[in-house]
Amino acid sequence: MADPSTLVQVTFRVNGAAHSLTADGDMPLLWVLRERLGLRATKFGCGKGLCGACSVIVDDEVARSCSLPLRFLGGKEVTTLEGLGTPERPHPVQVAWIQEQVPQCGYCQPGFIVAAVNLLRKKPRPTDDDIDRSITNLCRCGTYERVRRAIHAAARLG
Ligand code: FES
Ligand code: FES
Repeated sequence: MADPSTLVQVTFRVNGAAHSLTADGDMPLLWVLRERLGLRATKFGCGKGLCGACSVIVDDEVARSCSLPLRFLGGKEVTTLEGLGTPERPHPVQVAWIQEQVPQCGYCQPGFIVAAVNLLRKKPRPTDDDIDRSITNLCRCGTYERVRRAIHAAARLG
């Protein structure tokens, strides 16, 4: 049970919906998403802010949700993979990911897709260098080359 002295109430938005949660202020956003809000697309990898499996967009920056405590989320807008598209209306990045058959095991892919979406918002026509510099996620299956191809394809799809 949480120590009552560390409980905070935080109001923020996730994929366009407002949430007001009372929980331990140190609880990582990743836990909030998966355990409190039932949004399980965002994955746990290293738990240390290194691999990017837990990436989400907070306002207009990519954040490692395993390392972002709830107490910093007041008033923020969080976007997860679930907020990007639906099976009926996929986001252009998701369309490109399917076209280029990017995933292998798939575990790391939500983090890559979220990072790619944010990159394309800031830089609609990124170079390979832009991609390598801004997407620092790790993939044990080595999908990096297909990730690059899919980002260029998504840029063409607009
Ligand atoms: S699980 Fe968060 S960066 Fe690896
Ligand atoms: S697709 Fe398997 S870890 Fe990236």
